[in-house]
Amino acid sequence: MTSFTKPVGLKTLPDAFLRLNLLGKSPALHDAMRVIERVAAVDATVLIQGGTGTGKELAARAIHYLSPRRDFPFIPVNCGALPDTLLESELFGHERGAFTDAKQACRGLVAQADGGTLFLDEVEAMTPRAQVVLLRFLQDGQYRPVGGRQVMSGNVRIVASSNVDLEELCRSGQFRQDLMFRFRVLSVTMPPLRDRGGDAVLLAEHFLQSYALQYRRPARRFAPATVAWIRDHGWPGNVRELQNLILREVLMTDDETVDFARPAALDRAGLSQALLDQAFKQAKAHAVAQFEKDYLCRLLARASGNVSLAARLSCKDRSALNRLVKKHGLATRDFR
Ligand SMILES: Nc1ncnc2c1ncn2[C@@H]1O[C@H](COP(=O)(O)OP(=O)(O)OP(=O)(O)O)[C@@H](O)[C@H]1O
Ligand SMILES: [Mg+2]
Repeated sequence: MTSFTKPVGLKTLPDAFLRLNLLGKSPALHDAMRVIERVAAVDATVLIQGGTGTGKELAARAIHYLSPRRDFPFIPVNCGALPDTLLESELFGHERGAFTDAKQACRGLVAQADGGTLFLDEVEAMTPRAQVVLLRFLQDGQYRPVGGRQVMSGNVRIVASSNVDLEELCRSGQFRQDLMFRFRVLSVTMPPLRDRGGDAVLLAEHFLQSYALQYRRPARRFAPATVAWIRDHGWPGNVRELQNLILREVLMTDDETVDFARPAALDRAGLSQALLDQAFKQAKAHAVAQFEKDYLCRLLARASGNVSLAARLSCKDRSALNRLVKKHGLATRDFR
């Protein structure tokens, strides 16, 4: 550990979070930021809870970068994506020959994150066996690489996150209560976007500007009715839903005014009955065309407008790709 710094003062709080890309002015978010700030200064295990897309990963990064461990690694691990045995070897590493594919010894993520923070994402998806393995590690910070004898000591701070209420899962017997208690020494709850007042509009404007810059699209603004719609929408998918909606709008339209009241925009938001009423074939053609244009925009942005590179990245024939670019009326120079 290098230096222990003072926690940032409350007055400078939104600025500190601005640098960490966590934006918002609502009291609900500021309450969460205050908790994050306190939690960051204390070196104990944290559980971050909140609905899908509320910013749990951003919160975990904020905890790390505001903490004395900030100069050491922040390593995310998606617990839901890994089967038992893999999770164990991912976390703790393995010796050569520990299992069929283990041609050489490999350091685990606990060792790689040494001195830093290990972010265990989606812990609700951990199997009972993985829960036992982790519980043992959390008890004393000691572990053994898979197939190894030597007991190692880990120096990581654990930040866990869950999309669902772990207490509820414990009650129904799907999650170990002792593990939940280990995770929940400290806790942070990210509020749903619908409880953040004007933040939805603030975030929408932020995403509109930053995506236009990133994808070299024209600058634009929201129609007044759209601002009202954004403010009042329930946002079940929270910030991620809002972010994706704006990204699609930026990529798919060139109008100076963004107006979600237009049927085309509503289709993209999945809100229009019109799409459902179309015959299946038509609807499919429509969806495919949208996908193609969306994909091409991202691809060309990534390849900075270079069609040969774009062809290689997408494993498509160069001339076929060129035809597709023309079909959708895209100009490669817009991406240079
Ligand atoms: N307050 C915020 N300001 C700016 N961007 C945000 C904010 N909250 C979330 N985002 C953005 O929204 C997206 C979702 O955030 P994040 O991945 O942290 O959420 P999550 O709770 O981990 O979501 P999931 O449950 O889907 O894993 C990210 O692209 C993130 O950058
Ligand atoms: Mg997440």
